[in-house]
Amino acid sequence: MTTIIESLENDHIAIRLFNRCFGTEMDLESFKSFHEFIVEVHAKIEDEILIPAILEAYRDQEDVKYLAKRISADHLLIAKLGESIIEYGEKGNLTLYKKRLDRYMKILIDHNRSEENLLFPLWKNVPDSVRLDSNKKALEIINKYGYGKFTRILRNLGKNI
Ligand SMILES: [Fe+2]
Ligand SMILES: [Fe+2]
Repeated sequence: MTTIIESLENDHIAIRLFNRCFGTEMDLESFKSFHEFIVEVHAKIEDEILIPAILEAYRDQEDVKYLAKRISADHLLIAKLGESIIEYGEKGNLTLYKKRLDRYMKILIDHNRSEENLLFPLWKNVPDSVRLDSNKKALEIINKYGYGKFTRILRNLGKNI
């Protein structure tokens, strides 16, 4: 079974490849499903499962608390930025759509890098029982979203490579 960290890392790789292939050429419908996946699956797993387990394992560490806050604040910013991109797209304002989309992808990719460098390595000190439980909970979020839809998005992110 894929672990929660492997699954999140795979998402990050797919996001980088997707950006390299399409970047701001992504059409509105593709962006809508991409953004929905980021908010409803990827960031949700990080905010609701990964971060609480890490905070529990590093209870007394202020630097970990600060990092967790920063990561969750980024998620809110990404969610808001995504909504404004959809609004510009729906209004047909292509210039601002592309400008904001460029910013969104840069912020998201930078954010993902800092998770890989700072957040994910902390997982090694999370107890085994919590890790197993977290894998199950992550799968529940993916199943709720729809496993078919999840793999389709990942396939789409990785296609044309
Ligand atoms: Fe994240
Ligand atoms: Fe992430």
